[in-house]
Formats: sequence, structure tokens, C-alpha cells
Amino acid sequence: MNKITIAIDGFSSTGKSTVAKQLAKHLGYVYVDTGAMYRAVAYYAMQNGLINQEYFKVEALVSQLSNINITFKFNETLGFAEVYLNGVNVEKEIRTLEVSNFVSTVASVSQVRKKLVEQQQKFGENKGVVMDGRDIGTVVFPNAELKLFMIASAEKRAQRRYQELIEKGDDVDYEAVLKNVQERDHLDTTRKDSPLVMAEDAIEFDNSDLSREEQFDKILELVSLKL
Ligand code: C5P
Repeated sequence: MNKITIAIDGFSSTGKSTVAKQLAKHLGYVYVDTGAMYRAVAYYAMQNGLINQEYFKVEALVSQLSNINITFKFNETLGFAEVYLNGVNVEKEIRTLEVSNFVSTVASVSQVRKKLVEQQQKFGENKGVVMDGRDIGTVVFPNAELKLFMIASAEKRAQRRYQELIEKGDDVDYEAVLKNVQERDHLDTTRKDSPLVMAEDAIEFDNSDLSREEQFDKILELVSLKL
């Protein structure tokens, strides 16, 4: 069957990765979580003393980019690929609120974006890929056959992210999660390089009041029109 590229962009915690994983599994496509790649770079910066509340050593990070190797390895049990930083599985470490608080700053650095975008384009060069992020339909795959732009209210999104963190055993409060979601929205939409914006040919998809199943069914309909 004809293989296509599916780009899913949108604000944080809009359920992009949930639907992207469901789609990839259903279609037998590769799923790439590009947010995980930016998170891995942010985690590297934190671990190496390049960023904290007081400073961000941008030049040092840029000069160390060639030492940062990000890979994915499929986990049969989980049913999706986990992210590795220099050979170490960092899937859990990159999902904390602390990493979320630094990731958009790190993701605003053009050299970081250039490195990751090149890698993402390689992942998708043979099509048959579902990729989620902020700039997939605008920068990484401007010719993707299907582009979705996911939206939901900030409160709904913060509630979902809060629930996820609590279920993982993280000790966070809702207000801090909401603040993070709003700050990342702001940083992601106002950065100079590849700001979060809906591609002209993307389909806006509001899932505020949809269950996972309803959302999946509606998106599958959109996919079937492109196959
Ligand atoms: O998708 P997720 O919430 O894990 O992304 C974390 C952060 O990584 C985003 O808030 C954004 O700053 C950055 N990002 C990006 N471009 C992408 C994917 C993520 O700038 N394609």
C-alpha cells in the first residue's frame, strides 16, 4: 500500500504522542517523538552543568553538540521506541517537570534545531512515518501528505499532564504543571527559529472533548482519505 508521511504538531500535552503511537501501530509505520529528542538535549545540558535557574551556557552546549548522540530503540513490551542519550535509556529522566522547565529554552537554539531536524528528516526519508512535534508540518516535512495541528484548552492539557506525572509517582502540583504548559506555549510560539505555528495546509483538530477512541477514529478517517 501507498506509504505516506503524517505530521502531527500542536501545543504541549494535546495528546499528540498518544494518537501518533496509535496510528503508527495501526498502520505499521515508524513513530518518532521529536519532543523526546529536544528533551534529551535539555537533559544532557542539565547533567553537564550547562543550564540551571541562573544561567544557560549556550555556546558550551553548541560546542558539545557533536558529543550528543540520540537514538531510539523499539521496546516490544511497551510497543513504542524509547529514547537513548549516548547509549543510555533516558525515557524516564526526560519526562520530569524539571526537564519540561528547561526544554523550550534549549529548543530555541538554532544549532540544536538544525542537528535534530536533519536526523528527523533521515528517519522519515522512506515515508511510512508518523512524527509529532512543533515544526514537523512546517519545517521537517513541509510536503507531508497529512498534517494535523492539535489543540485543546491549557487547563485540559495541564490536567492531562498532571495526571500522567502523578500516575508515574512524581510529586508535582497542578498549578506548577499549568504554569509550565503556559510558559512553554509562549516560548514555543514566540521563538525566532521555527516557532510553533499551524502549517497552511494542516487540519486543526480540537480534542478537548473527545475520548482517545473518538479522537483515533476521527483521525483514522482523515488518514484513509490520503492512502
Ligand atoms: O512534545 P514535548 O512536549 O515532549 O516537547 C517538549 C519541548 O520540545 C516543546 O515544548 C518544544 O519546546 C520542543 N520541541 C520543539 N520542536 C519539536 C518538538 C519539541 O521545539 N519538533
